[in-house]
Amino acid sequence: MARPSTAQALKKTLDRILSRAGVGSRTEARKWVAEGRVAVNGKTIRSADAWADPARDRITFDGKPLQAKRKIYLLLYKPAGYLTTYKDPQGRPTVYDLLKDVDEWIFPAGRLDQDTSGLLLMTNDTQFGDFVTSPESHVPKTYLVKASTVLTEDQLQQLREGVELADSPTRPAQVTRVRDSAKCTFFEITITEGRNRQVRRMVEALGAKTLKLVRTRIGLVGIGDLQIGKWRELSAAEVKALSPRQRILRQV
Ligand code: URA
Repeated sequence: MARPSTAQALKKTLDRILSRAGVGSRTEARKWVAEGRVAVNGKTIRSADAWADPARDRITFDGKPLQAKRKIYLLLYKPAGYLTTYKDPQGRPTVYDLLKDVDEWIFPAGRLDQDTSGLLLMTNDTQFGDFVTSPESHVPKTYLVKASTVLTEDQLQQLREGVELADSPTRPAQVTRVRDSAKCTFFEITITEGRNRQVRRMVEALGAKTLKLVRTRIGLVGIGDLQIGKWRELSAAEVKALSPRQRILRQV
């Protein structure tokens, strides 16, 4: 379906409207629309690509009007071994197993690999999620890395300046050596992109492997002394610091 003209700019597709209202994921919403559970101004609509204006049109789900849901912003300390997906066909644990006492539907604002632990933001605010994850936002993300070899200063400098990955070179990063053991280097890196397995691929580009990866910070929001596997709500100031137009985020 064609995108709406400027005059229709406030309109959104039905799957997006349902997901923004916190009813469920866009995939679920598409299924529900196709099942005829959604009506616009009293008329059942079966195409999730149909456009509607949530401010003007009366949109119902199972006959009940959509209500603006309370916005939720959670910080979860994801342990390694958990997937950042809703369900896993192989039955592996997912982050939702750690959020069983949260009734509302929430989604991760950016993913972490199964083997990565650390700060994961979960929300029902799609605008917030889009901002935190969009490559254009350049929201800095900080990781602690245990590399499989002792890295030279030259190798750390390569990470700072950008290394060549299969897709394209990485943007400049902040890199600080934390300490070396006999066989490994522990370092902190802050990147302003969010490419798939980016930190692991950057370390691989140096000829080493990532033995441990922990995300400690997104923008100004840190994991603090939260226990692994636990979650807390973000404060209003933290939500604001991760919202559009907070230039203070641009640390790198
Ligand atoms: N970079 C990675 O390689 N993995 C993550 O989970 C996050 C960033």
